[in-house]
Amino acid sequence: MTGTAPLKRLYIKTYGCQMNVYDSERMADVLAPLGYGVTDQPEGADLVVLNTCHIREKATEKVYSELGQIKRLKQEKASAGGQMTIAVAGCVAQAEGEEIMRRQPAVDLVVGPQAYHQLPELIARAHRARGERLAADFAPDEKFDRLSTERRPSGVTAFLTVQEGCDKFCTFCVVPYTRGGEWSRPAEAIEAEARALAEKGVREVTLLGQNVNAYADPKGELAGGLAGLVRRLAKIPGLDRIRYTTSHPRDMDEALIAAHGEVPELMPYLHLPVQAGSDKVLKAMNRAHTAESYLRLIERIRQARPDIAISGDFIVGFPGERDADFEATLQLVREVGYASAFSFKYSRRPGTPASAMPGQVAEEVKDERLARLQALLDAQQRAFNAAQCGRELPVLFEKPGRHPGQLIGRSPYLQGVHVSAPDRLLGQIVTVKIGDASRNSLAGVLTSGELEPV
Ligand code: 5AD
Ligand code: SF4
Repeated sequence: MTGTAPLKRLYIKTYGCQMNVYDSERMADVLAPLGYGVTDQPEGADLVVLNTCHIREKATEKVYSELGQIKRLKQEKASAGGQMTIAVAGCVAQAEGEEIMRRQPAVDLVVGPQAYHQLPELIARAHRARGERLAADFAPDEKFDRLSTERRPSGVTAFLTVQEGCDKFCTFCVVPYTRGGEWSRPAEAIEAEARALAEKGVREVTLLGQNVNAYADPKGELAGGLAGLVRRLAKIPGLDRIRYTTSHPRDMDEALIAAHGEVPELMPYLHLPVQAGSDKVLKAMNRAHTAESYLRLIERIRQARPDIAISGDFIVGFPGERDADFEATLQLVREVGYASAFSFKYSRRPGTPASAMPGQVAEEVKDERLARLQALLDAQQRAFNAAQCGRELPVLFEKPGRHPGQLIGRSPYLQGVHVSAPDRLLGQIVTVKIGDASRNSLAGVLTSGELEPV
């Protein structure tokens, strides 16, 4: 296997969370030495990987409908004398295993999230004989050890997985079953990866984990959990911005709260899902927090970092949720004031405790509650964005905009910012005066200092 191998085309479609985005990049990295180059078109690809998400039923169904379309492309390629290999990766692969190949025989191999280092071998096997290819039972540490440490970041921002899995067992959630128990990567390995990224021009990393704030160095060499890790990474030259996602309120410790007030590289944005505002529902969800304890936690975080943008996840129509429970969710949202949020209708996932609970909520009721919740969250997001107008914010320019002469960057609060700016500012953090705000983004102008010719 050398760089002289003819270039084969690899199409990866990613569903779901940022962890999957990261995993897709790593899959591309392990396949690169075999001559696979990434394409953004599935037509004619030699290898198609669907990196799937199982968290809600809709996400799983999408995978099967996409597979139907890919199958037609595979047939087209075969009738032209070519070969297309189809792989299903990610959490659907983990949860459904061989069932996928029974439901869609065009699939050549199935690989769970812990076994991506085996992809080259699995593909080779699939090429030899198309049949059963399930590899889902590897410990995550092996996954990281065996994946090449060489990364080719595509821009100035990058994801970096520091933790995987979850032992919280929220009663609605499949993650503890598909991703397994909580496991953290050694701080040393994370630091080495972060340094390598910074040397390649990455200015911002987002530390990823299903329960990222439960991070604990497995070698015990780094103290202070995620806060310790953030402080260590903040010292890396060139790495100016650090974010992390997703957190559980239970693991939001004092050290991490303090870091938000003390580490300038740690961006003032926190995704801290609450799921619901009714204590009865939170208990049935096994969330291990109440509405009140969540609100007090937000208060403490805001004491440390008053301007922090809070984001969250919400589920409406959890089994047993009555009108009064839903009203409690709206009330909690009003009290917190979210900068952004994701909200979902409860989706019944086979094998999870909630799927067997009495009091399943009718679809129309879920629709109506979701619409009301989203209207409130949208209004809060607009208000948060509008409040930036007139402010000067440091913006990291990430990519060219749609219009010539325009760049798109991110504010500290993760808002997209559109600015007329020369390309030479790509990858730089520049002060922008915000003039305009919409629901999804901001627009602004460079302040005079940035316009000086270089
Ligand atoms: N139904 C609806 N939403 C869910 N989530 C997880 N499981 C379910 C489910 N069964 C949502 C939660 C979680 C986010 C990633 O997805 O809000 O925080
Ligand atoms: Fe799922 Fe709950 Fe774990 Fe989040 S904390 S991944 S919702 S079980």
